[in-house]
Amino acid sequence: MKKLTDCFTLSNGVRIPCVGYGTWQSSKEDAKNGVIKAIEAGYRHIDTAAAYENEDAVGAGIRESGIKREELFVTTKHWITERGYDKTLRAIDASLKELGTEYVDLYLVHWPCVESRNPDWKRVNADTWRGFEQAYRDGKIRALGLSNFEKKHVDALMETAEIAPTVNQIEFHPGYTQMDNVRFSQQAGMLVEAWSPLGNGMVLNDPFLTEMASRYGKSVAQLCIRYALQHNVLPLPKSVTPSRIVQNTQVFDFEISAEDMSAIDSMPLLGFSTYLPEEAPADALYD
Ligand code: A2P
Repeated sequence: MKKLTDCFTLSNGVRIPCVGYGTWQSSKEDAKNGVIKAIEAGYRHIDTAAAYENEDAVGAGIRESGIKREELFVTTKHWITERGYDKTLRAIDASLKELGTEYVDLYLVHWPCVESRNPDWKRVNADTWRGFEQAYRDGKIRALGLSNFEKKHVDALMETAEIAPTVNQIEFHPGYTQMDNVRFSQQAGMLVEAWSPLGNGMVLNDPFLTEMASRYGKSVAQLCIRYALQHNVLPLPKSVTPSRIVQNTQVFDFEISAEDMSAIDSMPLLGFSTYLPEEAPADALYD
């Protein structure tokens, strides 16, 4: 990858710009202004979710940016309260309406339904996925994917899936890489996307990373974004600050050495969100 608009190719042939602009925890106002700024800075890939409650603002930002819809890659995510075939179809239509768009480029199952919460978890995920497949066939979604899925959840889904997921979006940053899941997902033909590639800001003052970043003449945020890319993981950095939105695009003029990549790979736990699919917040995984 040499520039922001270079793309990974998903397993169904759809091309996805290699860095996405994240909007988790952005208020509506910040999301709208951030999207406008990000598009101005050259991002062509925006990541939101129904649960972020800012899809409408992201849509408004996209329209105000002046860039044509088809030149942008827009991801949103299905929320856990909308599981099952019929609810999923309604959720997709609701997200399209909020975003003010005819289609999304990528639609993700935000969290798997899990055994610890629901003994019928496999069927629930399978039913949700049938809704995804229907919307894909109806042309409302260009690529289907997952988020926060572990191997057991993917394997179970594949027992009935007719259309394979193209993406697994997981927490990934120095200090918490889930490398087993990265390898598994990539071998299963999915592009891995990194949510919180900066550890939600929690890794940015780490002395080890600070020293390494300064050797490259870069910020720790830029080091983290580059680190994901060098693992063929697509980073989704979030910032509402214009200068940082720009800074986070300047990651194509340096390369982290193999030695430094390994050193980051073996860092101790840092900046972990504590979110795990099987131990999600009590309200998060009921149907
Ligand atoms: P802000 O949005 O106030 O600019 P992640 O993408 O890992 O979830 O991290 C997001 C957090 O990192 C936010 O708090 C964001 O702050 C902060 N952040 C994003 N980019 C930078 C940067 N280049 N330098 C410092 N902090 C940053």
